[in-house]
Amino acid sequence: MADDGRTFDAAATEAVLSGKAAQRDLLRFLTCGSVDDGKSTLIGRILYDSKLIFEDQLKSLERDSKARGRAGGALDLSLLVDGLQAEREQGITIDVAWRYFTTDRRKFIVADTPGHEQYTRNMATGASNAELAVLLVDARKGVLVQTRRHATIARLMGLRHVVLAVNKMDLVDYDHATFESIRADFVDFAARIDLPEPVCIPVSALMGDNVVNRGDGMPWYDGPALLPFLEEVDVVQDSVTAPFRFPVQWVNRPNLDFRGYCGTVASGVVRPGDRIVVNPSGRPTTVARVVDFSGDRDRAVAGEAVTLTLADEVDIARGDVISPADARPEMADQVAAHIVWMAEEPLLPERSYLMKIGHATVPAQVTEIKHRLDVNTQNKLAAKQLDLNEVAFCNLAMARPVPFDPYEDNRATGGFILIDRTTNHTVGCGMIAFGLRRAANIHWQALEVDKAARAHQKHQRPCVLWFTGLSGAGKSTVANLVEKRLLAMGHHSYILDGDNVRHGLNRDLGFTPEARVENIRRVAEVARLFVDAGLIVLVSFISPYRAERRLAREKVEDGEFLEVFVDAPLEVCEQRDPKGLYKKARAGQLKNFTGIDSEYEPPEAPELHLRTDRASPDELADEVVQALRARGLLKG
Ligand code: ADX
Repeated sequence: MADDGRTFDAAATEAVLSGKAAQRDLLRFLTCGSVDDGKSTLIGRILYDSKLIFEDQLKSLERDSKARGRAGGALDLSLLVDGLQAEREQGITIDVAWRYFTTDRRKFIVADTPGHEQYTRNMATGASNAELAVLLVDARKGVLVQTRRHATIARLMGLRHVVLAVNKMDLVDYDHATFESIRADFVDFAARIDLPEPVCIPVSALMGDNVVNRGDGMPWYDGPALLPFLEEVDVVQDSVTAPFRFPVQWVNRPNLDFRGYCGTVASGVVRPGDRIVVNPSGRPTTVARVVDFSGDRDRAVAGEAVTLTLADEVDIARGDVISPADARPEMADQVAAHIVWMAEEPLLPERSYLMKIGHATVPAQVTEIKHRLDVNTQNKLAAKQLDLNEVAFCNLAMARPVPFDPYEDNRATGGFILIDRTTNHTVGCGMIAFGLRRAANIHWQALEVDKAARAHQKHQRPCVLWFTGLSGAGKSTVANLVEKRLLAMGHHSYILDGDNVRHGLNRDLGFTPEARVENIRRVAEVARLFVDAGLIVLVSFISPYRAERRLAREKVEDGEFLEVFVDAPLEVCEQRDPKGLYKKARAGQLKNFTGIDSEYEPPEAPELHLRTDRASPDELADEVVQALRARGLLKG
């Protein structure tokens, strides 16, 4: 569907380039509202009153309205649109239903997004491709939190045009005062989110007032009806006027003589002969050819999928961004951005997610939630995590610098999504406000004595033995025995133990999920430094979350990380209760205790699985040493 949108986009672009910008003939908008605000009826009414439905559709609509309509046998226009509901349920149309219609004056693409709270994700998806939002409210209910949330997200996502359609006016006797008070309420809110002059229109989608025609229910209203307004409203399409951006989707190399870079022009225009640079490398060169399925072209504009060839052989990978030499995107590995969180699982600072920006995918962490936005009051609130549908302004750190533009300047290169690394689900979307320069002047200091030299001196191969498991499972007991054996064999090692590290380095951290994430991030960092020092590091932390154990693994080289699952049933750990903590937790004197009221995610594929309820600590310690030897990590 998005591809169709782009085709239209290209048509609009042509209009702009050929100087016919005033006749902008395409408007992409989205409708949003709560469940029963009447979105489907509204769109159905637009189609019906503008005579955009065919005779046979009308016949079946009459039939369906009698059979299962909600209008008491009269025409139920929502059925025109809800037909798609079935498709949606069958998974044909995912997330957002796009609808196309054309009147004499304009082409329209409308994103119809479901109204339930949990569908904020769909609303965000629709908004990222639209220029205008129609927010529906029920005249009997007025502006709701949901309305404010939608307006806030629409604004954050770069929509500068919002229309408030106050629907069901027939149910409030077309009362002028009711409309005025809702209008005043919304205008006041719009000012707070910096939304200029919202247009408010009183409508009855059911009766047809002020949708396509004025109707005669509301003589006191002297503004335009909704559709005529949508036909007239002047929206600027930034994607054409912004500088050229080409995120490389793939490198096409069918034979030695041809190397092309394929993708869709995200913004601007490109022509053969243009001086360009490849980001992030900054390599300058010139566009040789602009090619598509029909052959060579003299230019390509925003929305068009093409292949570029370049005058010089430069090293380009998927995710790189080609831009004009004199109008480059910014580069940073830390940015400040608004994030809309879309998952049931909360966003935790310091957890590693995948950031997909353009065609680049890079691990990224939220390093700080600067504030959460109360969508109702626009107040900035402190937050330790983000829950479903929450919006926040955050700092993020990426694993490497990426090219981007601030979202305000370019929606195509300033927006990103966050992906959960375990489930692969999209869990959030973001809009970059600006790059953070603070890390820009800190470089990596190259030192002459390196890991290999340090390891060589110690006659060993450094590695991390990561013991994870419930409290009382026996992590520290086994780790301690392993270290004694290593010492006896002349190895150089160190134990990082949760209880001990929490006395010093991590003494500021408790046991909430976000504190545990930070606890593991720090100890993983220390483990990495110790591996760099040439040591065999034994880490003994509950480390309850898979995501952070994976992060720890990724900090060292392949083969240097052994996850050791120290496993005993909860009942056994509880019976052992070496520190009396289970008893306290059961008595309610200790909150967030792992296994009781805080989650433990067992490893899925640990290098070693030790059952401490079935073998003695000494046997298990031998097993660990054996495993190290088998992997060639020990001398002799
Ligand atoms: S982790 O979950 O963040 O990895 P860590 O291994 O550092 O935990 O610390 C766990 C130790 O802290 C336990 O062995 C126990 O002695 C102590 N402790 C105190 N409160 C808790 C709690 N609520 N949950 C788990 N362990 C706790």
